[in-house]
Amino acid sequence: MADHKSTSSFNARDLLVPYKPPEWAAELQSVPKYKVHLGNDDTPIHRWYLPNIPDDFEVYIKREDMTGAELSGNKVKKLEFILADVVDRGYTTVITAGSIVSNHCRCTALACRRLGLQAHLIVRSPTSNPDEVPCTGNTLLYRMAGAKVYLAPHKADIYTELLPRIQQLADKLKKDKKVDAYPIDMGGSTSIGVFGCIEGFRELMDQGLFDKYSDIAVGVGSAGNVAGLAIGNYLTGSKVRIHGFCVAHDGPHLIYEVNRLLEELGLRKSTQSPSAGPVNAQDIIYIVEDARGLGFTVSEQKELEFLYNVTESTGIVLDATYAGKAAFSLVQQLQENPGRFQGNKILFMHTGGIFGLFDGRMDSVIKQNTTKNIHNWMELSDDVPFQVQ
Ligand SMILES: Cc1ncc(COP(=O)(O)O)c(C=O)c1O
Repeated sequence: MADHKSTSSFNARDLLVPYKPPEWAAELQSVPKYKVHLGNDDTPIHRWYLPNIPDDFEVYIKREDMTGAELSGNKVKKLEFILADVVDRGYTTVITAGSIVSNHCRCTALACRRLGLQAHLIVRSPTSNPDEVPCTGNTLLYRMAGAKVYLAPHKADIYTELLPRIQQLADKLKKDKKVDAYPIDMGGSTSIGVFGCIEGFRELMDQGLFDKYSDIAVGVGSAGNVAGLAIGNYLTGSKVRIHGFCVAHDGPHLIYEVNRLLEELGLRKSTQSPSAGPVNAQDIIYIVEDARGLGFTVSEQKELEFLYNVTESTGIVLDATYAGKAAFSLVQQLQENPGRFQGNKILFMHTGGIFGLFDGRMDSVIKQNTTKNIHNWMELSDDVPFQVQ
């Protein structure tokens, strides 16, 4: 497909809504000027009867997986601010990066099309052959959105390889196509994007956070989501404890990324603003270091069994990469380390990512557990000795 051309009647600027932050966030640096509405706000919270948790704990689930269908999860909250900035500043093209199965890349590519923008995606991939790139899950969806995709080595480093490549691609687009491209950091965890997660905290406050819950549990990747929640928690003087489960990277990565955002928002002592608030990631987030298991996008059998059991017993579908690993680790912490929680009413953030489930990883667990539930319809005939279970 050729680069998107806006129809004469469509102007994404018309979708921009002036943004006013909550009073407690008004002094932050980088407050965005506009927001564009892409996802559903006020997603529900309900009790979640997660199997195998100690009797004295109650777990609740915030359904951020219901912010939308194809624009779902926490990603869309960040993009509402980032893409508003893109449109406001007159860009027609964005560049971002992630893994080949990235939820952020899927969300960016689709949201861009809603706004008449073109997405370029630099993705870490096990193959460098375009013919071998799959048409499943997130990859199918961003390909359908006509994203331009660049295959990076599977283990390319974020800081020394991927982020510099975003800039190189921007320079190339400028030189070769006279196109100005707006760079978006991995996961949309930018100082503008984090306002989506600060707004997420305001949403939780409106839903009775302070009265109803003692602790929040959330999976951490690029760390924008946990940073936004923790910043809201800090600025409002809330006593809720925020637990960040490192499902994609290690603890030092979380600390580095959250501190970077704190600094960019003027909340951290830095050389640029020595008088700014002296707050660090570790002051505002209780970190669970070892929630990755065997590694990012790699699942152990017991994790896959857990996903199946959770859906089979509660009807909640978790992805294998983020919310699934975070919930698995939450159960472990509740069983083995209950003292880390401030109280007994735990709010788990379901951050979405369902399309990641369709990569075949679950096949053997599902077959093992459910093939017995599947029957040939001939078994319903009176001639066959079969009893409905
Ligand atoms: C489904 C899902 N949940 C959670 C996260 C983590 O959010 P963050 O990158 O803001 O830490 C991601 C990030 O890609 C995600 O896709």
